Formats: sequence, C-alpha cells, structure tokens
Amino acid sequence: MVDREPNVSRQASRQRATPATSRAMTRVIEPLDPEPVIGAPCAVNLGVPSWPDWGERRGYSGSGTGVNICSALQLPAADGQPARIPPMHRPVNKQVHLTEIRRADEPAFLALLNDPDMSRFTCRLPYPYTREAFEKWIGIVTAAAAEYGEPIHWAIRNAAGELIGGIGFDNLIKGHRAEIGYWLAKPYWGRGIMSSVVAKACQVAGREWNLVRITALVFENNLASVRVLEKCGFEREARLRKYFSRDGEFSDAFLYARVS
Ligand SMILES: CC(C)(COP(=O)(O)OP(=O)(O)OC[C@H]1O[C@@H](n2cnc3c(N)ncnc32)[C@H](O)[C@@H]1OP(=O)(O)O)[C@@H](O)C(=O)NCCC(=O)NCCS
Repeated sequence: MVDREPNVSRQASRQRATPATSRAMTRVIEPLDPEPVIGAPCAVNLGVPSWPDWGERRGYSGSGTGVNICSALQLPAADGQPARIPPMHRPVNKQVHLTEIRRADEPAFLALLNDPDMSRFTCRLPYPYTREAFEKWIGIVTAAAAEYGEPIHWAIRNAAGELIGGIGFDNLIKGHRAEIGYWLAKPYWGRGIMSSVVAKACQVAGREWNLVRITALVFENNLASVRVLEKCGFEREARLRKYFSRDGEFSDAFLYARVS
C-alpha cells in the first residue's frame, strides 16, 4: 500500500512527528533490488548531516589527507568556469531516489531544516538554518564532488522529485573507509525511508568504492538513528564521552561501524 506523500513545504514547519506517531505510520518502502548488499549483511534488505563536527570540519578534508579542500573553493576552476556538481540518479525504491544536491534546492533546505527537532541531534545543521549555511554546504558539496569526480553528498527525493532529505560521506578514502551522515524531513519520519537509503548508500560504497569500513557518530539519545544503523548492519564500537558540543553543552556520542 502506498501512502499519499505529504506536501513537504507546507507540513515541514508545523508537523511534529513523535516516536509514537512515527511507529504508527504505514510503511511504504518497496524492497530494494534483490541482490545482496555487499559486505556486512543488513538486517533489512534494503548520510548537517550528523555532521557532528560542523565547527571542526570547516577545514573539511574530503580525502582524509589533511588537505583543506575548502580552500579549493577560492581557486578558479581550470577552465575558468565555476565548479558544478555532476548530475547523478540512483533509485532506492519506487518512492525514493537519490540525486546530486542542486543550488535550486536552497528553498527546500531552508524550509525543512529550520526546525530545532532537525538540528537537535546534529552539530552540523545549524539552527536557525540560514542561506549562508546553505552556501557553505553547497561549497563543501561542490568541492568534494570535484575532488572525487562524482557527488558524494546526495539529495533524497520523493517520486515527484521534491527534496525530502540528505545523505553523504565525509572523510572518504576509496578502497578503505568513510563516515556517513544523513537527515530526513520530519513529515517522512517513521516509514523506513532512511533505513532503505542508508542501506543503498552502503551498497554503493561497498560495490563502487570498495569501502570496508563505514562509520557513523550518533548522539546517544538519537534512538531512531541508532535503530537505522543497527538495521543496516552497523555495530556500536564505542561511547565517545563529551564528544559533541552544542550550545555550550557536551554530550556523549556512540561510534557505530559497518565493517566488511
Ligand atoms: C534519524 C532519522 C534519519 C530516521 O529516519 P526514518 O526514515 O524515520 O527512519 P526509519 O523509519 O527507517 O527507522 C527508524 C527506526 O527507529 C525507530 N524509532 C523511532 N523513534 C524511536 C524511539 N524514540 N525509540 C526507539 N526507536 C525509535 C522506528 O520504530 C524505526 O525502527 P523499526 O523500523 O524497527 O520500527 C530521522 O529521524 C531524522 O532525520 N532525524 C533528524 C536528523 C538526524 O538525527 N540525523 C541522524 C544523525 S546521526
């Protein structure tokens, strides 16, 4: 059975999805392709951004080499044209697909992310979420796409092509490891969407980039995200004490890893 998709822009700012309502919502996710997910098995056949270190990662190093690719943003592209994010399209199921993040997504980012419930469990999603925050983000996304030759931060879209979330990788070292982060617009919570999307992202990372280790850092009380990770074959490796700092408060993080 397929639910009607809600109008994101209208509902995002006013709907408050509680865990109880989330669990009560009807699942709409179709199974992914029947091929098994490479690497560690996902419990279910199926990432601002937790982006926990927004502050630290202004000196973002996409390759993990210590090179600050943000500085590349200040350099003209070789052909004198502004850098652009190459288009991509990856289906997840009948309701959801992944594409590159576009400049035209700015209004949706502002509408969906200006919500304390969205930023509560992330350190990289500022609240309020401003145009400047989107500018910084699109700069990071563009620079990373240029470095890797393809987008590594993706828009999650519904069947109508509307932006409903984001997922991506940081510190990607092809052939080895990366850190995943993600968010989903509140009206879509509790339908199994992110479990499917994370599984798809792990599949891409395993098959195309040969990653053997994908990590995620989660606020200890982000139970929905913990559940998503565990359903996708991630295991808890550590509690990182006082790892997150937000609005002057420190919180513990759980380090999750999916190793194949
Ligand atoms: C975390 C988030 C991505 C989850 O997306 P989602 O599409 O709702 O997740 P799913 O529906 O695939 O799975 C959620 C699971 O958590 C469970 N869950 C939800 N709230 C819960 C709670 N308070 N306690 C325990 N489990 C909970 C759901 O029941 C479901 O498990 P189930 O399939 O076994 O029933 C979404 O809530 C979000 O974007 N939050 C804000 C940003 C964020 O936290 N990003 C992640 C940072 S690490």
